[in-house]
Amino acid sequence: MARVEAEVGKRPEGMSTLEYHVTKYYAAKSFNWWYVFGVLAFVVLAIQLITGIFLTMNYKPSAEEAFASVEYIMRDVEWGWLIRYLHSTGASFFFIVVYLHMFRAMLYGSYKKPRELIWLIGMLIFFVLMAEAFAGYLLPWGQMSYWGAQVIISLFGAIPVVGEGIVEFIRGDYSISDITLNRFFALHVIALPLALVGLVFVHIVALHEVGSNNPDGIEIKKNKGPDGVPLDGVAFHPYHTSKDLVAILVFLMIFSAVVFFAPEMGGYFLEHANFEPANLRATPEHIAPVWYFTPFYAILRAVPDKLWGFILFGLSVVLPVFLPWLDRSRVKSIRYRGWIYKSALTVFVISFLTLGWLGVQPAEGVYVLMARIFTVIYFAFFLLMPYYTTIDKTKPVPERVVYHG
Ligand code: HEM
Repeated sequence: MARVEAEVGKRPEGMSTLEYHVTKYYAAKSFNWWYVFGVLAFVVLAIQLITGIFLTMNYKPSAEEAFASVEYIMRDVEWGWLIRYLHSTGASFFFIVVYLHMFRAMLYGSYKKPRELIWLIGMLIFFVLMAEAFAGYLLPWGQMSYWGAQVIISLFGAIPVVGEGIVEFIRGDYSISDITLNRFFALHVIALPLALVGLVFVHIVALHEVGSNNPDGIEIKKNKGPDGVPLDGVAFHPYHTSKDLVAILVFLMIFSAVVFFAPEMGGYFLEHANFEPANLRATPEHIAPVWYFTPFYAILRAVPDKLWGFILFGLSVVLPVFLPWLDRSRVKSIRYRGWIYKSALTVFVISFLTLGWLGVQPAEGVYVLMARIFTVIYFAFFLLMPYYTTIDKTKPVPERVVYHG
């Protein structure tokens, strides 16, 4: 083990960058389809950057003109409707892909030693992605853009003493206004995308320092042949790239089907209320964020106290950061874990999905009760993890990867 770690990240003399990261980057041959979501996240990032540039050519970041400029893009700009639908659908697909990518890490313990840094950078990406989506949603200046931002920004007002100051600082005004729209535009088109691209770059650098994990959670660098190549590894190019290409094509088919046939996705990808211009005097009947924020929003509304609601909301987003230290299991992969972790993970997924559904229901009656129960389950998954991963009976991990060719 010591020998493997000493070698980590040391690029052999004479090896080019392309060889180090692509043609001589060895990853387990046993990768399954859970391993395509990293590459797919790249694809969606590229779609968002390219379509975003074209949208910016016709969008007007002012409270007076924003809504009309989006309508203009949809009706008058050539192919404008397609560019906008690619971008709005891309936002939802970004979260679908990233949530599945994160879940894969939970299945195979990819966040565990020695990959904590990859996970931490991933969580930073996730936070920036949330901020990026939030800022972007204000730009069309529709009813939900305005009132959604109103609800979320005013949450910070719950913080004692400095809360109101923070709210004003974010808005740049006493209410959400043209000034807020302008700064969100700057964040959405420049600052946050730059941060995203930079973070994705270091995410990959961190990954290539230690090497990819695999569905068995085995360090393939422990078993090298006489040529120094891991016995269970194959070169990223052409072996993984050719598989990834299939995944990209399948992804693009599904993505196009949504873009062309259901871009609003029944009000989940583009909310109905956002087809009306922002009206400062008329609050929509139900204010709900877009689906990818709803699990956290449900936790916020489950708590009667404003400050505690805000604290639990913040904690629910931040807690996964600590997974590498909360998880005390001796094995990485779900394949070799016991029934306790398997059940805990299943219940966690159910609670996350149910909270997501509850986030779009009115906050009343049985919905509130359910939100409270699932909030407790959500937190229990993380907070009790050091305990149940210690007592969970694990199975012996094989020496070599299990490969079903
Ligand atoms: C723009 C967003 C992201 C991009 C483009 C991206 C890209 C990638 C790529 C290409 C890989 C290698 C292929 C793979 O294992 O699927 C990877 C691995 C990984 N990513 Fe991400 N990622 C993103 C977001 C995240 C987030 C939000 C997290 C978690 C919070 C995360 C955690 C990880 C981990 C732990 C690995 C190592 C997985 C393993 O070796 O089993 N990533 N990422």
